[in-house]
Amino acid sequence: MAVFLTLVLVAVILVEPVVNARYSPLDGDKRLNSLDNEHLVTNLPGQPDVDFRHYAGYVTVNENNGRALFYWFYEATTHPDEKPLVLWLNGGPGCSSVGYGATQEIGPFLVDTDGHGIKYNPYSWNREANMLFLESPVGVGFSYSNTTSDYSVLGDNFTAIDAYAFLQKWFRKFPSYRTRTFYIAGESYAGKYVPELAELILDRNVDSFLHIDLRGILMGNPETSDAEDWAGMVDYAWSHAVISDETHKIIGKSCNFRSNDTWSNNDCSQAVDELFRQYNEIDIFSLYTSICIGDAASSDDKSRQVKFMHTSTMMPRIMGGYDPCLDEYAGAFYNRPDVQKALHVSDGHRLENWSICNHKIFDKWSDSKRSVLPIYKKMIAAGLRIWVYSGDTDGRVPVLSTRYSLGSLGLPVIKAWRPWYHQKQVSGWFQEYEGLIFATFRGAGHAVPIFKPSESLAFFSAFLQGESPPSSR
Ligand SMILES: *[C@@H]1O[C@H](CO)[C@@H](O)[C@H](O)[C@H]1NC(C)=O
Ligand SMILES: *[C@@H]1O[C@H](CO)[C@@H](O)[C@H](O)[C@H]1NC(C)=O
Ligand SMILES: *[C@@H]1O[C@H](CO)[C@@H](O)[C@H](O)[C@H]1NC(C)=O
Ligand SMILES: *[C@@H]1O[C@H](CO)[C@@H](O)[C@H](O)[C@H]1NC(C)=O
Repeated sequence: MAVFLTLVLVAVILVEPVVNARYSPLDGDKRLNSLDNEHLVTNLPGQPDVDFRHYAGYVTVNENNGRALFYWFYEATTHPDEKPLVLWLNGGPGCSSVGYGATQEIGPFLVDTDGHGIKYNPYSWNREANMLFLESPVGVGFSYSNTTSDYSVLGDNFTAIDAYAFLQKWFRKFPSYRTRTFYIAGESYAGKYVPELAELILDRNVDSFLHIDLRGILMGNPETSDAEDWAGMVDYAWSHAVISDETHKIIGKSCNFRSNDTWSNNDCSQAVDELFRQYNEIDIFSLYTSICIGDAASSDDKSRQVKFMHTSTMMPRIMGGYDPCLDEYAGAFYNRPDVQKALHVSDGHRLENWSICNHKIFDKWSDSKRSVLPIYKKMIAAGLRIWVYSGDTDGRVPVLSTRYSLGSLGLPVIKAWRPWYHQKQVSGWFQEYEGLIFATFRGAGHAVPIFKPSESLAFFSAFLQGESPPSSR
């Protein structure tokens, strides 16, 4: 114990003076071992025994306004010193990467379906990489700002800038990761966040002090280009027998998804309303699974429904896109005082109010890039690895939307369309372009790893290796 305390003191003394100075990556590794980090999580209630370390807490991204982002970081299960670092982002806008990515999809501790705690996930992506989950922007999950007006300017740009500031500050806390091979991954609306943050990193990398060793990006059922995403959503609904031939025809004739006032056309508005009326009867995020029928008193039934406003230029809201029954359990878990204390969110007396999606953020979103395809081009030119995958039973950002978007890039094909395999079965199909790989997951909904955990982990591993997914049994 005495030795440990001494180490902590030494670390604090050595590190404090450099906090406001430019941080030199090279001497960082010798000075501070992440073992000594105050954010080490040691007593998470109900946590299964594991061999890896994990950390959680706040990083201040703007001192003047008092903005702090919350993260949860899991070191790799084996050889964390050698494995890459991967940042995972969920979408919304307004939804939590901790509530979805970390504890429903790909983290090592999944929220239990009995609502009492967490269980170990044998398909956790931290078997292959050091996994960092960020709640972004402020207003999402535990992340906050002390300046109320910050909440009225949230948008893509704001989100990228704060996430970038987060990374730079986080590397000061975890200097041994400063020069690590780095990837960004995410799904859904993070289809916008991921390339936007990647672009910012590329641009700022001209300053060698700020250099981040970004090698590639990975995106699942990503919002990419609004016009193509809309067209794909409509054609998918028709080709999967959710809407009639007549409705499909009206949309085709009357909707101009490239226009700024698509909804001023009445026929178009009504036909698109009809599409969502049908989707509200099922789970748009997973066409062939049952919906969660909660108890009638719970407002949760509504959370599955797509909210679509003609006044907004945004694509319809992603209300989660996962299992709405699980969402409730996540809320119960993260609002426990002992859980918040263990994650360094609160002192265990004064509680923070955590919810899986902050709906106000979506309503007020002030800027959204109509297309991130120009960023794809820039990243391909820079030699970054770009992989895009798509669960083929999602109706919200369906496989057709992604194919229309990627098709418009007109990239040369290197490996033509073919199946990829996992455990001797066809997991989906893929096509390899010059600079980009696109793959489907057969029978998976919007949040692919929930439906196909083992396949997803194998695919993630192939991505990190830079080897195309296995194309023989
Ligand atoms: C926000 O305000 C609270 C209360 O004054 C303070 O404890 C906290 O450190 C502030 N957060 C940031 C990021 O400055
Ligand atoms: C993004 O936000 C930053 C900081 O608020 C601002 O300086 C910059 O002009 C914004 N860029 C765009 C493209 O809106
Ligand atoms: C539509 O909106 C975009 C972004 O605000 C703008 O750049 C463009 O000029 C607008 N197009 C039309 C036809 O008004
Ligand atoms: C907690 O957040 C939820 C969702 O944003 C909100 O409906 C609820 O009123 C909040 N509760 C408190 C006590 O602030």
